[in-house]
Amino acid sequence: MAPVTKSGPPPRERPIAVFDSGVGGLTVLQELLVELPHEDFLYLGDTARFPYGERSASELERFALEISELLLARRAKLLVVACNAASSAALDRLRERMLSTTLGVEVVGVIEPESRIAAERSNNRRIGLLATTATVTSGAYERAVARFAPDVTLVSVACPDLAPIIQQGFPPNHHVVETVRRYCAPLREAGVDTVILGCTHYPLLAPMLQRILGPQVSLISSGRSLAASVARSLTLGELANPSEDEGAYRFLCTGDVDAFREVGSRFLQMPIEEIEHVELPSAVAV
Ligand code: DGL
Repeated sequence: MAPVTKSGPPPRERPIAVFDSGVGGLTVLQELLVELPHEDFLYLGDTARFPYGERSASELERFALEISELLLARRAKLLVVACNAASSAALDRLRERMLSTTLGVEVVGVIEPESRIAAERSNNRRIGLLATTATVTSGAYERAVARFAPDVTLVSVACPDLAPIIQQGFPPNHHVVETVRRYCAPLREAGVDTVILGCTHYPLLAPMLQRILGPQVSLISSGRSLAASVARSLTLGELANPSEDEGAYRFLCTGDVDAFREVGSRFLQMPIEEIEHVELPSAVAV
């Protein structure tokens, strides 16, 4: 692996790196841009290898490590894994690797903050999880929720079609509504009062999910809770950018740049200007 040197801008002025398999992580970036307006961000969408949700844990770990090397080489000061599938498969390994580099980069994932908030929020101690197959199979949420609230029952539903529907810009048609209804049915039957959106793509369907699940159900998504964890890490590591100016945000993408811009700017609700196409060691659709 390429050595990382200490040269370049001082750590506080380096960007925060964020990655996902596609546009879902933009729901996290959106919260980060609001919560941390003086920071610079570098977002990578691994769209050439989307979807991650049906991949094996070992593939996801390899992808996450490749991406983190690239983002480290771009001088990231903190790494945000804005993808539940990658977090569930690779967070420990990523932390180990990033902290062992000369820069000692901290890694923040999406699973812990969401699990903690869901455990605090649920009154009837029945929590639902909607996530990709990879995330559900990993058991990462079962472990995290049990750590915060051993008395909670977690009802998990794998939703293999949802992230691809959203990534394509989901026309909100009858087929999409019926698909969402099918995934929500076991959660309605179980009477959960809190639902974790365990994929960063899903907040883009929040109004539809809320309507189908009912207004009394709390939806928990990664963005806000994760932004608070990132802010804490910056403070603890003395890494907050001292600038009073608005920070910049840039994009890297392994797949089609125009498709990313088209769907991404609609979802981010902010302009996406600079997108650089990057090749990763094995960034080909497999
Ligand atoms: N947004 C990602 C997640 O949070 C992955 C969706 C996918 O690539 O299948 O799990």
